[in-house]
Amino acid sequence: MEKSNNNQDSKKKKNKKNSNKFPEPFVKWAGGKRVIIDKLLERVPSKFDRYIEPFVGGGALFFALKSPTSIIFDSNEELINAYKIIQTNVNELINDLKKHKNTQEYFLFLRNLDRDASYKKLSNVERASRLIFLNHTCFNGLYRVNAKGEFNVPFGKYANPTIFSEENLLKISNLLKGTTIICDDFSKVLEFAKKGDFIYFDPPYLPLNKTSSFTSYTKDKFDFGMHTKLKEVCDELDKKKIKFMVSNSNTVEILKLYDNYNIEQIFSSRSISSNGEKRGKIREIIIRNY
Ligand SMILES: C[S@@+](CC[C@H](N)C(=O)[O-])C[C@H]1O[C@@H](n2cnc3c(N)ncnc32)[C@H](O)[C@@H]1O
Repeated sequence: MEKSNNNQDSKKKKNKKNSNKFPEPFVKWAGGKRVIIDKLLERVPSKFDRYIEPFVGGGALFFALKSPTSIIFDSNEELINAYKIIQTNVNELINDLKKHKNTQEYFLFLRNLDRDASYKKLSNVERASRLIFLNHTCFNGLYRVNAKGEFNVPFGKYANPTIFSEENLLKISNLLKGTTIICDDFSKVLEFAKKGDFIYFDPPYLPLNKTSSFTSYTKDKFDFGMHTKLKEVCDELDKKKIKFMVSNSNTVEILKLYDNYNIEQIFSSRSISSNGEKRGKIREIIIRNY
């Protein structure tokens, strides 16, 4: 008992230390890398000029590195709009975030705005505010869309969810001043990358099995063909001697695809299933060309 309290205390202290050190992601994101952040940080090159993250999502490593010059990409338009608004219009966003109410009726009203033309009437600030609110009040804090691109996660029924921290958003806004933010496919990285850059790829993972797949970040699914395309992008970068690190699942297909690079297996406490028996530590891999 004594021991577990100590553990909890040291965990709290560690979280507090980290939260002072760097901004926290402003969204909860499936596949977010906060749980393995130390393992990633240990493997980042000691020196590089620019940091590039082509599948930025919640941006756990981007925030932890606090690199003054970075380029971040994602193909999710709503997410990239939110990053851009935090970069350029954070005060208006904070004011808008204060207006939300945590009721099912209000949640469904806001969620279902993307079902018809009324969505086009929202300003970019209102769209960013909607994303952040839905992300923290929906079930399990998830961003998931259907084939039509409509946000389809149910209301989370949380009593008192934290939707945003003003202090954190201001810290993020400051960091984003030196960041180029792009909504595009990861392969565009080849147009930007140059020697001296460090690139971290964290794609939607190849599913470990048929029931564990989560690739619904956007309406376009990330299949094995996309993983092959990503490997080709890595090969191009390698030819130019640009350092990259890739995260993925520990599957035979991915091990075979990257068999000419350094591959390390790591364990994470990431939960992969709502089925209790399948929860727990799962293996994932980190691939590097250095
Ligand atoms: C595993 S998540 C990244 C998680 C992130 N590293 C974090 O810590 O939160 C994968 C991201 O890739 C994005 N994505 C999916 N397909 C993409 C594509 N073709 N090009 C760029 N981004 C893509 C998704 O929108 C999602 O945000």
